Amino acid sequence: MLGRPLLRRRFRSAPIGRCPLDMSLAEMERVGDAFVGAAIIHSFLSPVSNKRSDGYGGSLPGRMRYPLEIAHAVRAVMPRGMPLGARITGNDWVEGGLTPDDAAAFARALKAAGVDFVCISSGGISAEARPTLVANTNVQFAEKVKREAGIVTRTVGLIAAPKQAEAIVAEGKADMVALARAMLDDPHWGWHAAHVLGVEIARPKQYQRAAPKVWVGATFRN
Ligand SMILES: Cc1cc2nc3c(=O)[nH]c(=O)nc-3n(C[C@H](O)[C@H](O)[C@H](O)COP(=O)(O)O)c2cc1C
Repeated sequence: MLGRPLLRRRFRSAPIGRCPLDMSLAEMERVGDAFVGAAIIHSFLSPVSNKRSDGYGGSLPGRMRYPLEIAHAVRAVMPRGMPLGARITGNDWVEGGLTPDDAAAFARALKAAGVDFVCISSGGISAEARPTLVANTNVQFAEKVKREAGIVTRTVGLIAAPKQAEAIVAEGKADMVALARAMLDDPHWGWHAAHVLGVEIARPKQYQRAAPKVWVGATFRN
């Protein structure tokens, strides 16, 4: 679309595996008009990847500038009642990278730009990143963002069990949770979670014969 790839060079010794080129202002406008992925937004936000010397780099306000322009532009074309969310990084997990304080400041600015909720993940910007891979790994960042930015907050990352997911929300640490690999592993995770949590939910007709209420085999699984 831009005539040259934005993710082109590969530096073996660089802290990031694939080093993005600086986009020109015209390219930023064209990408913003067409689509923007979370990766491009974060590459502006993170001091690990944003080495620009113009008004879109440097301090946190400079690094937030393009992401916030995108948020404003998206909000302007979306229907009022349609919620707008943003996936953001809670921590780069690397020296000199984006911190949880930065994430809270960014979430505050996104809220002011009309974003309704944020989803907190972390890591990924650098091969040097050392995330702590424990259950609920990003919940601590979500809690902080929720408290300090006052925005509806979702979190994701190593959440797999229904009661684990329920506790995060019930304890007020996040307003929502998201699951990726647990859903890949079990595409009917939502139905199974409902059963574990004692909730009955409607299934499409074709699946009703396997509902726990009518299929004794469901009890064998637990
Ligand atoms: C197949 C796959 C594709 C993914 N694609 C994206 C993506 O496009 N953007 C993104 O922000 N995260 C992406 N992720 C990361 C997930 O959204 C999630 O943050 C991560 O897998 C941790 O959550 P989990 O422990 O529930 O898997 C992807 C994950 C998987 C497994």
